[in-house]
Amino acid sequence: MIILAVETSCDETAVALVRDGRETIAALVASQAKMHEIYGGVVPEIASRKHVEVITQLTDQVLLDANLSKSEIDAVAVSYAPGLIGALLVGLNFAKAVAYALDVPLIPVHHVRGHIAANYLAYPQLEPPFVCLCVSGGTSLIVDVKSYVDMEILGATRDDASGECFDKVARVLGLGYPGGPVIDRLSQNGDDSRFPMPQVNIKDAPMDLSFSGLKTATLNLIHNMQQKEEEIPVEDLSASLSRAVSDMLVPRVMKASERCGYQKVAVVGGVAANSRIRADLTKACDASNTALYLPPLSLCGDNAQMVGSQAYYEYLENKVADWDLNAYANRDISKG
Ligand code: KG4
Repeated sequence: MIILAVETSCDETAVALVRDGRETIAALVASQAKMHEIYGGVVPEIASRKHVEVITQLTDQVLLDANLSKSEIDAVAVSYAPGLIGALLVGLNFAKAVAYALDVPLIPVHHVRGHIAANYLAYPQLEPPFVCLCVSGGTSLIVDVKSYVDMEILGATRDDASGECFDKVARVLGLGYPGGPVIDRLSQNGDDSRFPMPQVNIKDAPMDLSFSGLKTATLNLIHNMQQKEEEIPVEDLSASLSRAVSDMLVPRVMKASERCGYQKVAVVGGVAANSRIRADLTKACDASNTALYLPPLSLCGDNAQMVGSQAYYEYLENKVADWDLNAYANRDISKG
C-alpha cells in the first residue's frame, strides 16, 4: 500500500511516499527555520503562509523523485494534531483535496504517534510493545506503546517541553533558533558540573516531567552574569543545562521501562538528537539489558515519512477520516 503523507504541524513542510508503513519511497522536507530565526522562535502566521507556498511543489517533486504517478497513491495521510492550528490546517486541507480528487481514503495521524513510528522506518524488526520517550519543541512525554495504535501516557511535562527549554535559553544567549542543536554542540567542550541546576520531583507522579523551573533558573543565571557584566561561559552553561535535561528524562524513562517490563526503549522527536541524552540513555539501557532504539537524526525532527508509517497502522485498524476532519492544537495521544 502506497501512502502519500503530509506534515505541516509546525515550521517544516514535509511530504513523503511510504510503502506498507516501513519503506520510504521518496521524502522531502522544506524547513522554514531560517525564516523564523530572526524572531527567535516560530511565528505561526508566517509558518502557515510558507506551508501554502511550497506544499504543492513539494508533492509534485516527491512524485517525480519516486517516479510514481498520482494514480498509484492508495491513500493520503496527514498530521491533524497537535501543532500550530493554522499550520496544521494547511496540510489538512491540502491532504483532503488530494484524497478527494484521487478518490482514496484520508488517514488522520496524531503528530506524536508519527514521531513514534519513525522507529518503524529505522528499525524494520521493531514491533510494539515498547516504552517511548517523545521529546520535541512542543512535547515531552513518556508513552507506553502497547500496540501500533494503543498508547498510554505514563509521564508528561507539567509545563514546558524540553525543546522549548533549550530554545528559550539559546534565544537569550543570542544563539539563534532552533537552540537545541547549538547548545548540544557547545556543550561538547563544556564542564557539566560548573552550574548545578535544580531538579524537580512531582509528588505522586514519579514519571512526570518539568522544565520551566530549569529554564527560569538558567535564564536567571544568564541575567545575573549579564548584570554584573561578566562573560558568560556558554560552553559550561550549555553542558550543565544538557546534563540537567538528561537527568530529568533518563531516570524517568528507565523507571517506565522497569514498570512495563518490555526491555525495549525508543526515543523520538527533535530533542532525541541531543548527544548527552543519547549517551546517557545508551549507558542506562546497557546497564539494565534493555534494547534502545534511537532513530537516525534525519528521522528525529519533523518529517512526513513518520506520518506515512503510522498512517499504515491506523489504516489497518480502519481509522479513516470523513471529509469533515478538523485540526486540533492539542489532542491526547491515547485518543489517536
Ligand atoms: O520534533 P521537532 O523537529 O519539532 C517539533 O517540535 O515538533 O523538534 C524541534 C526541537 C527544537 O526545540 C530543537 O531545539 C530541538 O528539537 N532539538 C534539539 C537538538 N536538535 C533539535 N534539542 C537538543 N539537542 C539537539 N541536538
